[in-house]
Amino acid sequence: MNYLLLLSLIGFTSADFKPRKYRVNLDLPPDQRWNQVIRENIEVIPLIAEEAKKYIPSFIQPVVWPIARALGNLLPKDIHEELKGISRESGLPLGEVVGLNILYDITAFDRKHILYEGCTSIVLQDKRGNIFHGRNLDYEMQDLLKNMTIYVDFVKNNTVIN
Ligand SMILES: *[C@@H]1O[C@H](CO)[C@@H](O)[C@H](O)[C@H]1NC(C)=O
Ligand SMILES: *[C@@H]1O[C@H](CO)[C@@H](O)[C@H](O)[C@H]1NC(C)=O
Repeated sequence: MNYLLLLSLIGFTSADFKPRKYRVNLDLPPDQRWNQVIRENIEVIPLIAEEAKKYIPSFIQPVVWPIARALGNLLPKDIHEELKGISRESGLPLGEVVGLNILYDITAFDRKHILYEGCTSIVLQDKRGNIFHGRNLDYEMQDLLKNMTIYVDFVKNNTVIN
């Protein structure tokens, strides 16, 4: 059984778009787990970061990233280490990696005032036990999000976990 992790389900009008498939090995140290994903998507990552930053008013950005960087210390250790690895491999500052990962959580609590938008998720399981997670992301960067949508199988002890 595979987990289907769709970072975005927006705009799947083109039938020939196939998200790349990755295995993330949870037996690796957390800061190594996403290396391959980052390396193979390195050209779109800065574009996504720039686009996502547009959702944060520019006058508060100078304080947002240092705060986000500090907030990283409150995350579970594994997650913090994964984000550090992603920062190292992508070249994005750690504050931005943490900040962009919690962007939605920060903005969603007051999204009616900040974004005037919100997202919808659907999780379902078919007869064979496959789990599907569909999520729209109401951002104006749909092509970018589509391009960076990937499948991930999380692997432990050489077995896909489910
Ligand atoms: C998405 O990928 C397609 C195919 O590689 C490319 O033509 C297009 O420019 C990309 N779009 C963005 C916004 O990066
Ligand atoms: C890992 O897999 C091997 C071979 O399937 C098995 O013998 C071993 O008990 C597993 N180890 C753990 C920690 O699950």
